[in-house]
Amino acid sequence: MKKIYFDNAATTKIDSSVLTTINNVMKENYGNPSSSHSFGRSSRTIIEKARKSIAKEFCISSSEIFFTSGGTESDNMVLISAVRDLKIKTIITSKLEHHAVLNVIKHLEKTFYVSVIYVKINSDGSVDYNDLEQILELNKSKKLVSLMHVNNEIGSILDIKRVGDLCKNHGAIFHSDTVQSIGRYKIDLSKLDIDFIVGSAHKFHGPKGIGFLYVNKKLNIEPVLIGGSQERGLRAGTESVHNISGMEAAFLLAYENLNEDKKHILGLKKYFIEKAIRDIPNIKFNACCDNINSNTYTLLNVCLPIEKEKSILLEFNLDLKGIACSKGSACQSGSSKGSHVLNEILKPDDLEKPSIRFSFSKYNTIEEVKIVIDTIKNFIESS
Ligand SMILES: Cc1ncc(COP(=O)(O)O)c(C=O)c1O
Repeated sequence: MKKIYFDNAATTKIDSSVLTTINNVMKENYGNPSSSHSFGRSSRTIIEKARKSIAKEFCISSSEIFFTSGGTESDNMVLISAVRDLKIKTIITSKLEHHAVLNVIKHLEKTFYVSVIYVKINSDGSVDYNDLEQILELNKSKKLVSLMHVNNEIGSILDIKRVGDLCKNHGAIFHSDTVQSIGRYKIDLSKLDIDFIVGSAHKFHGPKGIGFLYVNKKLNIEPVLIGGSQERGLRAGTESVHNISGMEAAFLLAYENLNEDKKHILGLKKYFIEKAIRDIPNIKFNACCDNINSNTYTLLNVCLPIEKEKSILLEFNLDLKGIACSKGSACQSGSSKGSHVLNEILKPDDLEKPSIRFSFSKYNTIEEVKIVIDTIKNFIESS
């Protein structure tokens, strides 16, 4: 049986050329980058080259990029340091953020008595920019806005230019969780008022356990992990040289082929929508994710016309047929609570039905879309 992987928002298949890069670095460059001998220096060179490549793409200085273990660590660093070091008193965010953001904010609210304001969300999962402006206008304390660029569950896209401008006009610091947009969207930080962005290599065909954080050079933050002086004192711990090099390779590949890959993936999404509308009557596209212009090209979150009792069999059926997709977000698997994002935006009737996220990559094909929709159609008709 050929397996079908439609869970690329959870993680992606590592690129074979990235794997080769990682293997070579592991084999040849085992020196500790902090050592001053030639082995250490060659590892250091690899790290600094990766830092330069990433900084160049975002049009920033390489001293503004810090390597971390991934999205969760980067988001934690930003939010904890913002409160502790930048004396932020109010955090403005949304209820649709990833738990790497939401749960840290809840922790900061409880422990440091930071006030938290949740911006209004429209039915398509987009931020109500007028509400955000009003909140910024009314709140005179030192504030930080934390809003994600592309939502990992429903694919809504934040206008980061608009939010950056609003933050600048109202003296707020702006953090955007860009984990889902890195490698899929061009981000020119020289033209945007964003203070922090974050990336995670496993979302763009790189290795797991490696990511980065961009910190605007105007801001001075202190480390969260206490130890050695790696990453210019901001992130202690021996650098994962092979993973950093693998992330660089995946990052460069993603941006080199961005337009071509986007065209292919968007083609899959469009075909999925067309065929699903034709073959599955009453299918619903959550958060208007079928709107090609306002939603990301990489995913679809659909609500299926299936009774609650039968929906458990659907997941089982798809898995049995080798189809990987996600109920809500993969970071939630093992939890019975369901998706906090869908809970915010779906009507009670639709929450009773199964919602599934299908997320695509350059490795997927039209044939796979056909198989998946036919499988769902047969499942619905077989009752
Ligand atoms: C939007 C978003 N933020 C943060 C994370 C966490 O990233 P990581 O898996 O690298 O810790 C994820 C992963 O699912 C994500 O989708």
